[in-house]
Amino acid sequence: MTKIALVTGGNKGIGFETVRQLAEQKIKVLMGARNETEGKKAEEVLRAQSLDVTFVKLDISDSQDIENAKTYIESEYGKLDILINNAAVFLDSAWFGNNVETAPMKTLRDTFDINYFGTVELTQALLPLIKKSDAGRIVNISSVSGSFGVHLDENHWLYQLKPYAYSASKTALNQFTVFLANALKETKVKVNAANPGWVQTSIGSDQAPLTPAQGAETGVALALIDENGPTGTFSQAGESLPW
Ligand SMILES: NC(=O)c1ccc[n+]([C@@H]2O[C@H](COP(=O)([O-])OP(=O)(O)OC[C@H]3O[C@@H](n4cnc5c(N)ncnc54)[C@H](OP(=O)(O)O)[C@@H]3O)[C@@H](O)[C@H]2O)c1
Repeated sequence: MTKIALVTGGNKGIGFETVRQLAEQKIKVLMGARNETEGKKAEEVLRAQSLDVTFVKLDISDSQDIENAKTYIESEYGKLDILINNAAVFLDSAWFGNNVETAPMKTLRDTFDINYFGTVELTQALLPLIKKSDAGRIVNISSVSGSFGVHLDENHWLYQLKPYAYSASKTALNQFTVFLANALKETKVKVNAANPGWVQTSIGSDQAPLTPAQGAETGVALALIDENGPTGTFSQAGESLPW
């Protein structure tokens, strides 16, 4: 039976390449995007390469969009095999420095609305469909900037980079990963967090060493793990990361 995947924020960057790589595995991929024009344009690009991709209008901070996406997936496919929670924003004023004393509440709330609350709401809504899969896989695209281990290690290259809103939202996402994996440990659903690496995208900037295709690889690999694969982990390219 064809596997069905949903990738949020699939219109560009790491999300777009994730959609492509999953579709290349003959998976039917639903490309979530909040902007209809951009989503349809991205869908066209991949369909022109004979990939089975369908755009789904999905702003993850919009409860109605979440409900509509759930209804659509349920009526068309009756299940969901793979959910890649990729969509996120970076709203801090800079990557450098530690803005914890001054980060505006609006920046914190707007960041959490998408990176954390939107992701949790979407995942909770889709869980009944994911549990209907023979091998449900949830991958949360996190970031090492959400890692306590990294921010406590003065020798880590990211130690000087402490954008508070973004980092805290990814820490919360990591906690969600651990709790959800624990809650689902007796089921066939596996839940893992992926760090894509530092990637050339709007969030990562063009200074980054990795291409979006390379950045997609960790999440795609975790989406394709078999029943012996891990759950409740945080990794990049197969290497564990500190929470
Ligand atoms: N690039 C890096 O170096 C890096 C490092 C670590 C982790 N990450 C993570 O990788 C993931 C992908 O980011 P990226 O680097 O590919 O950045 P990106 O190119 O800016 O892509 C972000 C995607 O998320 C979408 N998005 C934002 N808010 C949304 C919402 N409310 N609903 C639905 N979609 C929304 C964006 O849509 P629009 O086009 O409409 O804005 C876009 O498609 C993120 O979770 C990011 O935190 C990236």
